[in-house]
Amino acid sequence: MMKANDPRPASNSNQPMHLGVCYYPEHWPEDRWVADAAAMAAMGLSRVRIGEFAWSRIEPEPGRYDWGWLDRAVETLSDAGLGIIMGTPTATPPKWLVDAMPDMIGRDRQGRLRTFGSRRHYCFSHEGYAREAERISAAVAERYGAHPAIVMWQTDNEYGCHDTVLSYSEAARDGFRRWLAAKYGSAAALNAAWGNVFWSMEVRDFGEVELPHLTTTEANPAHWLDFRRYSSDAVIAWNRRMMAAIRAHAATTDITHNVMGFVTEFDHHALGADLDLTTWDSYPLGFLEQFPFFSEEEKRAYARQGHPDIAAFHHDLYRGCSAGRWGVMEQQPGPVNWARYNPAPLPGMVRLWTLEAFAHGAELVSYFRWRQAPFAQEQMHAGLHRPDGSEAPGANEVRAAAADLAAIGDGGNAPKSVALIFDYEGEWVTATQPHGAGLSALRTAFDWYRAARALGLDIDVVGPDASLDGYGLILIPCLPIVSEALVTRLEGTACPIVIGPRSGSKTADFAIPEALPPGTLGRLFPARVLHVESLRPGLAHAGDGWAVTGWIETVETGAEAEHICADGRVAVWRQGRMRYCSALPDAVLADRVIASAAIEGGMHPVAMPEGMRVRRRGGRSFVVNYAPEVQAVPAGIGGEALVGARMMPAAGVSVFG
Ligand code: GAL
Repeated sequence: MMKANDPRPASNSNQPMHLGVCYYPEHWPEDRWVADAAAMAAMGLSRVRIGEFAWSRIEPEPGRYDWGWLDRAVETLSDAGLGIIMGTPTATPPKWLVDAMPDMIGRDRQGRLRTFGSRRHYCFSHEGYAREAERISAAVAERYGAHPAIVMWQTDNEYGCHDTVLSYSEAARDGFRRWLAAKYGSAAALNAAWGNVFWSMEVRDFGEVELPHLTTTEANPAHWLDFRRYSSDAVIAWNRRMMAAIRAHAATTDITHNVMGFVTEFDHHALGADLDLTTWDSYPLGFLEQFPFFSEEEKRAYARQGHPDIAAFHHDLYRGCSAGRWGVMEQQPGPVNWARYNPAPLPGMVRLWTLEAFAHGAELVSYFRWRQAPFAQEQMHAGLHRPDGSEAPGANEVRAAAADLAAIGDGGNAPKSVALIFDYEGEWVTATQPHGAGLSALRTAFDWYRAARALGLDIDVVGPDASLDGYGLILIPCLPIVSEALVTRLEGTACPIVIGPRSGSKTADFAIPEALPPGTLGRLFPARVLHVESLRPGLAHAGDGWAVTGWIETVETGAEAEHICADGRVAVWRQGRMRYCSALPDAVLADRVIASAAIEGGMHPVAMPEGMRVRRRGGRSFVVNYAPEVQAVPAGIGGEALVGARMMPAAGVSVFG
C-alpha cells in the first residue's frame, strides 16, 4: 500500500503514456539490432522490454555469466533513445538448474510432476528455487541497476500462466502446513474453523493435513479456500523476495509485474499493493475465444475486435491495484497462436486498443512483439513485423496511434462515478462451490460491469479495502465474504448501493452465517435469505421484458419488492438507497436497475449503441466503436470532435472535448 510519506503520485493522471515493444535480442543476429532499435524509435516507440526469458543465455552454466551480449543489447537500445524495461528471467529456469533440483517443478492437480521444455516450470513454495531466483534477479539487477536507460523492472513473467499458482508438490504441502499452523495455532482450532467433525475429517496435528486434491469426492470447501489463500500468499511472498533482490541494486526504479486477463488464482490487489505499477497483457481476441463468459453469437460478432468490455474491464481492474498506476505490457498486434481459433484484428483495432488504454489512464502500451519468431512455440504469433523483417499490418497502426497521442496531449483526471467491488477471495469461494454450473463471482462482476458500461458510465473496479469516498454509485455484484470493516465503510457513504445475490453468504471460514445470509450485510440491508436455488439454462423466471437466470433466492425482508417476476418471485428489493438483487438479472434487468440507481446517484446514463463504448478523462470523452459497422455517437455525448467524427467507422475512435 502507499504510505503517507510515499513520494509516488496517488494517481496517474499526469503521467505521459509511453508506447513500447517486447523485444528478444537473443533471438536475432546482432547485426540486426542497430536497425531494429532505430526503427523502433522512428515508429514512435520510447520503451522496449527485454530479458524476461533469457536465463540460458545469461548464465549458460552454473555460476558462469555471459553478460557481453546483453551489455551490447542494452547499449544499442539505449543509444537509440529507448527506455528499457528489464525483465528478470525467473519464469524460464534452465535445464541445468532443473536437473540440479528436480523437485523445484510443480505438480499438477493429478499429482503429476511437470517436466522441463516450456516455461513456468517451478513451484512457488520451493525454497531452493526461490533462492536461485533471487540470485539471478540480483545478478541482473547488480549488472544493470545503475544504468540510466533502465526505466523499469519486470519481475518474472505472468505469474499463474499455464495454471501454475496451485501446485500439489511436497514443497507446497509443507508450506501449507506451516501456513495453517501460523493461522490457527492448534489443530483443534483448525478442526473447529473448517467443521472437520463432518465426515470424520478431524486431524490431530498440522502434519496430518494433506492437500485438498485427489480426495474420493470433494474435499472440505474450507480446506480449499485456505489452500487457495496459502497459494496466493506464496505468489505475493515470492514476488516480494524478487523485488527486494532488484531493489538492492535499483533502489528507485519502478518495478512492475505483467499480470493476465481473467486470471484470479492469486490476489492481484495484494500483488499490486507491493508493485510500483501493475501492468497486464491484453489479448482481446484470444480472451474472447477462450473464455466461457461469451455466447457463440458474441464470439462471432466480435471475433476480429474482441468483446468491447474485455480490455476495459481489465484496465479498470488493474488501475485499482497499484494506487492508480498501471499499463499494458503486452498488447496483441495481430493474430495470436494460442486460442482455439486465431483471426486477425479488424484494421484499426490495434490503434483503437492503444487509444482506449490511454482513455482509461495507462502510462504504457507495449506491443508483443517486435518481430514474429520463425522458430519454436510461438512461430504462428504475429508481431509488428513478419519473420523476414517486413512490416506486418500492426506497424502502421502503431504509427497512427503515436500520432494521435501526440495530438491529444496530456491525459488529465478521470471522473469518480461508479465503484464496482470485486474481491479475489470471493471468486475462490464461487470457484470452490459454484452451486450451479458456470456461476462465478468474476463472471457476475463482468456482467454488471458490461451493463454499467453499456450505459456510458465510467467505472472503477476496486478491491474490498479500497476507499469508497466520492463515488456516485457502488455496485457489489457478488461478494460472498464481507468484512465488518467494509460494511462500516459502506455505512459511511451516501450514494445508491446495489448488492448482488450471494453477497454476505459465507463467513471467513466458509460457513453459512449464523443469522443466515446476507450475514454482515444485514446491517445495511436487513433481510434473511431463507433458501437459494441454482437454475439450469432455460429455467428462467420472466418479468416485464426481462428474466432472471442461473440463481434465485427466497428472501424475508421488510424492504419493498421493486422488480417482481410474473410468477410472484422477487428479483430486486429496495430500501432507501439500498437495492438487493435476490436473483441474477439478465442484461435487460441489470440495465434497468443500474440505470435507476445511477440516476439517483446524480449520473446521466446514455444508452450506448451495441459495441460502442465511452470513457471520460481530462474533460474529454473517448468513444470507441467495436462494432463491425458505421455507427453514430449518441446525442448524450457532446463536445467538439478532437479526433474522428460523430459518424464512427468500424474500429473507429473519436475524442470529444
Ligand atoms: C503472454 C506471454 C508472452 C507470450 C504471449 C503470446 O501470455 O507473457 O510471453 O507468450 O502471451 O500471446
